[in-house]
Amino acid sequence: MSKVSETTRESWIKSTFPEWGTWLNEEIERTEVKPGTVSMWWLGCTGIWFKTPGGANVTIDLWAGNGKRTHGDGLMKPGHQMANMAGLNAMQPNLRAVPFVIDPFAVKSVDAVLATHYHQDHMSAEFAAHVINSGMTTTDENGKEIPVPFIGPKKSVETWIGWGVPEDRCITVKPGDVIKIKDLEIVALDSFDRTCIVTTDSTGPDREDLRGKCPTDMDEKAVNYLVKTPGGNIYHSGDSHYSIYFAKHGKDYDIDVAFGSFGLNPVGIQDKMETTDILRMAEALDCKVVIPIHYDVWTNFMADINEIKVLYDMRKDRLDYKFHPFFWEVGGHYTYPTDKDRLAYHHDRGFHDCFDHEPNVPFRSVL
Ligand SMILES: [Fe+2]
Repeated sequence: MSKVSETTRESWIKSTFPEWGTWLNEEIERTEVKPGTVSMWWLGCTGIWFKTPGGANVTIDLWAGNGKRTHGDGLMKPGHQMANMAGLNAMQPNLRAVPFVIDPFAVKSVDAVLATHYHQDHMSAEFAAHVINSGMTTTDENGKEIPVPFIGPKKSVETWIGWGVPEDRCITVKPGDVIKIKDLEIVALDSFDRTCIVTTDSTGPDREDLRGKCPTDMDEKAVNYLVKTPGGNIYHSGDSHYSIYFAKHGKDYDIDVAFGSFGLNPVGIQDKMETTDILRMAEALDCKVVIPIHYDVWTNFMADINEIKVLYDMRKDRLDYKFHPFFWEVGGHYTYPTDKDRLAYHHDRGFHDCFDHEPNVPFRSVL
C-alpha cells in the first residue's frame, strides 16, 4: 500500500478534523486554576469554557457546527429569522471562518451545559449526544452525584428535548433565576437579542405572521448570564443587540468582564453590536474589561477589532472610561484577574527552551 492508494476523502477528513484535535481539551484538563481566579477559553462564536478553582467546568454556547457548504438553490428558508427581519429570499453567504478548536466528543467532564438561546450557532447536538451517551455526571450542592444538567431558556430546552435529551436533565431559566454549580453562581438576566424576537417556530412559508404584533416571549427565547466566580463576575450577553437596559444590569451587579457579540452588519440587517455599541455596552455595564466575540465566525459578519481600539482611544479620556477592551483569539486562554491588565492575546509562540542544548549547526555565526 502506498500513501496515494491509501488516501481517501474520508481518511483526509479523519486526519485533519477537528483542526485542533484534542489540543485544547488537554490544555483545559491540565490547567490548574489558582484560588481567587477563573479561567476561560474562547471556543469560537460565543462559546466560552469556564473553569474554577473549586473544579467547576461549565460551557456557555459550546457549538460544533458550521454554516453554508454549498450554493444549493441560492435561497434562504422563507421563515428564517434573517428573511423575517429583512424581507429577502437570497441565501446569506455565512461560511464558517474559524477552525474547530475543541473536540466535543473528547470532553471528559463538565458540570453543566448552558445556552443563551436556541439559534443554531449557540447549541450543539454533538456535545449533547456525548454528554448523554457517556453518562457524564457531576455533584449537586450536597455532594450527591447527579447527571450533568442542560440549562437554558425555554426554547433552548425544547431544542435539547427535540434532540433526545431527557426532559429531567433540562433546567429552564428565565431572567432572575439563580443556579449554583460548585463554586459558581449563575444568574439569568434579560436578553436583548431582537433577532430572536423575529425568529418563528416554522421557517417555512407557513411561518407565524409577526406583522403588527408585539411579541412578549423574549424571556422564553433568550437570556444573558452573569457568572459569579471566585475570580470575578463575568457577563455573557449571548447575541444581545445594544440595549439601554445594560445600564440597569450594570447598576444591579458588579461586573468585571463582559462579553459582547460584535460584528459588521450587512446592509439590511441589524444583528450584531458594532464598535460604538460594544463601547456603550461596556460603559453601561460599568465593567472593567470588555471582550468582543462572535465576529470571528461568520464570513458575512466579520469585523475588525482595531475599530474598537481606535474608537476607544478617541473616547477614553474625554468620557473617562473605567474599562478597557481585551482582544482575544479563538482557542485562547484568559484568566481573571491574573490577565486583567492585558490588552490583547497571542497564542503561545513556543521555543521557550531554546539553547538549553547545543544547536546542531555548522557554526554559531549562521544563527
Ligand atoms: Fe449567533
